[in-house]
Amino acid sequence: MRGVTVRYGDVVALDRADLTAPAGRVCALIGTNGSGKSSLLKAALGLVRPGGGTVTVAGTTPRETRRRARVSSVPQAEQVDVTFPLDVRAVVGQGRYGHLGPTRRLRPADHEAVENALARVGLTALADRTIAALSGGQRKRAFVARALAQEADVLLLDEPFAGVDRPSQDTITALLRELADGGACVVVATHDLAGLGALADTAALLAGGRVVVHDTPEVVLRPENLVRAFGLGGER
Ligand SMILES: Nc1ncnc2c1ncn2[C@@H]1O[C@H](COP(=O)(O)OP(=O)(O)OP(=O)(O)O)[C@@H](O)[C@H]1O
Ligand SMILES: [Mg+2]
Repeated sequence: MRGVTVRYGDVVALDRADLTAPAGRVCALIGTNGSGKSSLLKAALGLVRPGGGTVTVAGTTPRETRRRARVSSVPQAEQVDVTFPLDVRAVVGQGRYGHLGPTRRLRPADHEAVENALARVGLTALADRTIAALSGGQRKRAFVARALAQEADVLLLDEPFAGVDRPSQDTITALLRELADGGACVVVATHDLAGLGALADTAALLAGGRVVVHDTPEVVLRPENLVRAFGLGGER
């Protein structure tokens, strides 16, 4: 991402933001409420059109990357429509759409990938429930399972740990590390600074819609950097 600006009407949500997130690494996005984390992820997904700058994902445009099913995302909880009447297994099965053949039906290998993903997030027993009938944390795990089943090259997760208990957070953290070790580019917005070292190879600190530091968690968590992001300005 180079010099990317995102506006919602008069609000500048992202202000000439630069970010490089390489394959094989987990990059965390941190910053106060309103600092621009979700807007950055939406720009990477092609869900908002930047008012300036360039976004390249897996070598091409965000839209093309999505069309090729090379990117998968876990949206922030507030952005999820939980009223749709799909069961958990069907939601995870959506991750396989980019893999389907001409029949557009899930084949044995697809079903296997779905069951594996459900098992890895510990949702096998709840797979027949509708997504609306899950708790907030279970729902998060269902969307992580969908991303796993997709076997995408790029994973964009918006606060996957919000409302998730410690064991589930540890499970998701381990899964994301495993995916990065397998070559995926993983970008995760999070408010959990304590878990940053275990989760991420690098952390990008956002403030006022800009990436003000992008370095190892150890460097980014230094007091002088945290003051820049959390001590000044506040919400806009
Ligand atoms: N749809 C929208 N319309 C108008 N302004 C918006 C919209 N979405 C976000 N904003 C504004 O853009 C700025 C950045 O918001 P964004 O959602 O990217 O922040 P964030 O870092 O993800 O915050 P949080 O930690 O609360 O999720 C904020 O000032 C916010 O109020
Ligand atoms: Mg957000």
